[in-house]
Amino acid sequence: MTYQSITVEQRDAVTLITLNRPQALNALNSKVLEDLIAAFAAYQADDGQLCAVLTGSGDKAFAAGADIKEMSEKQAADFYLDDFFAPWTSEIVKKTRKPWIAAVNGFALGGGCELAMMADFIIASDKAKFGQPEIKLGVAPGMGGSQRLTRAVGKSKAMEMCLTGRMMDAEEAERANLVVRVVPHETLLDEALKTAKTIASMPPMASIANKEMVNAAFESTLDQGLVMERRIFQILAASEDKAEGMSAFVEKREGQWKGR
Ligand code: HXC
Repeated sequence: MTYQSITVEQRDAVTLITLNRPQALNALNSKVLEDLIAAFAAYQADDGQLCAVLTGSGDKAFAAGADIKEMSEKQAADFYLDDFFAPWTSEIVKKTRKPWIAAVNGFALGGGCELAMMADFIIASDKAKFGQPEIKLGVAPGMGGSQRLTRAVGKSKAMEMCLTGRMMDAEEAERANLVVRVVPHETLLDEALKTAKTIASMPPMASIANKEMVNAAFESTLDQGLVMERRIFQILAASEDKAEGMSAFVEKREGQWKGR
């Protein structure tokens, strides 16, 4: 598969996807969406690929938002009739059952912040900046910002950011639990790939199950979530990897995973 607006590399069991429109600060246009849908589908379908990292090319931006030039030509009816922005969640978030990490290397604004928040977690460079500045364009978040940011950082901070359009730097983002950690800019990719490699070394089915369980916390009541957690645990207990993992512990050796 050849991509026009992203690059995709496989590093052992880790897929590295890089947004590649640095001249437009990796703004997210329809081509980027099409390429990302294909890249995430390929990652999901490849049994040898067990974690993915998404980052931005260039030194300045992860993604500075949805492409304003593309959007400026559209009318309300175009957005509504195409259900514009829907595929980001329906095609990427929902269909990618395996884990992926956003490595945020600079501006993550508007759709860029929203894309980062679609990841299972975010690792940020100390140059990262997050924001939902859509209000300054006369609109509002359209790819989940008002929902995912609020769940991540709470109402006050999300509300202030959406209403003022101000940016949050990496340190504040870490304090607010938007990102898992901040690392020096030069080491961001190495750190993200190292974390991805650790995830890729885990039993693959358990990896999907853990992701599914944590995500369920956002979609269910505590009781429903606890039942779902127990049921998935019980299913995993029947897996070959559970037998192998527990034997390997007792025998003081590394587990050899089958993914079943
Ligand atoms: C299209 C963009 C872009 C974007 C930057 N560029 N952001 N193009 N869409 N979102 C382009 C610029 O036009 C410029 O192209 C080049 O990238 C470099 O940007 P500069 O502005 O010259 O860089 P700088 O002065 O360093 O400022 C960086 C910046 C600023 C603060 C990030 O670019 C900025 O404010 N960008 C817009 C951020 C934003 O509003 N994002 C939310 C978008 S709306 P040229 O060709 O001039 O060199 C959204 C969801 C909307 O995401 C939902 C609505 C329904």
